[in-house]
Amino acid sequence: MRPGTPEHRELFCRTFIATHNPFEPEALPWPELDELHLGRLRAFPLWSYARSIEQRAGRMVSAFAQTLDDPLIREAVALQGVEETRHGRLMAHVTRRYGIDVPDLAIPDPPARREDWMVFGFGECTDSFVGFGAFAIARRKGLFPESLMRIFDDVLFEEARHITFFINWWRYELARAGRDGLLSRASESVRYHARAVVGTAQGGADVPQLPEMSPEQIKAMIGDVTPVMFLEAALAENRRHMARLDRRLIKPRLMPGLATALLLALRMLPPRADSAATSSPRPLRAAQDDERSAA
Ligand SMILES: [Fe+2]
Ligand SMILES: [Fe+2]
Repeated sequence: MRPGTPEHRELFCRTFIATHNPFEPEALPWPELDELHLGRLRAFPLWSYARSIEQRAGRMVSAFAQTLDDPLIREAVALQGVEETRHGRLMAHVTRRYGIDVPDLAIPDPPARREDWMVFGFGECTDSFVGFGAFAIARRKGLFPESLMRIFDDVLFEEARHITFFINWWRYELARAGRDGLLSRASESVRYHARAVVGTAQGGADVPQLPEMSPEQIKAMIGDVTPVMFLEAALAENRRHMARLDRRLIKPRLMPGLATALLLALRMLPPRADSAATSSPRPLRAAQDDERSAA
């Protein structure tokens, strides 16, 4: 499928719209949790931040959709706005349902220019990849009942749809502007990823700031997870979500590519005596497979 063609536009918009899952967060099969699981859920230090980020995304994406001329693209972006708003409601429901007492962060309406959408879209590529890894590790460790994990799995699949839609929209726009060369694409992608990461770290008037966490909280979140374990989990989860989407769509490549390169570099390091027992090194061949699937 050639980017920038009417067929490409039909594909990435119609696929996005057709895979929308209509559900109400309050009506999902939320499980009863015992004290152990409730304690784990309440100890997670990012609830307030995550809820605000989703609420902000809902307002920004919905407002950006209204600025678009193309009716089909506008319909798809507006639908993403609906889904982000719903993520905000879902997070709010989780905090209420499970008695997670975290403050509401009041955030003014974010700007919704094309530039803001670009930073947001590339930022979602980074955030989703990190989320895939964290989710896969939590599931593997059995930190929460599978019935709860399934709900969050669906949320992460929506994020996989968002970033795939965004990357296809970006390539469609670049191709139509005659700027779809590999070098200009790569530099634009790196630039916006970096801007999004800096924005997340710094926060701002309309961007919630990551909360300060104590060394104990960070240690409790990371536990015995090594960088190799995390990267392997994120790459595998990324592949699993992307495999559910139409093969003809362009998939986000920068984060999987960076993760694969980092994984290859880490695997070339001599194993540390204290991590040899906990990490699960795989042969180089497996890392090369990761690289191929990310390219
Ligand atoms: Fe979201
Ligand atoms: Fe999203």
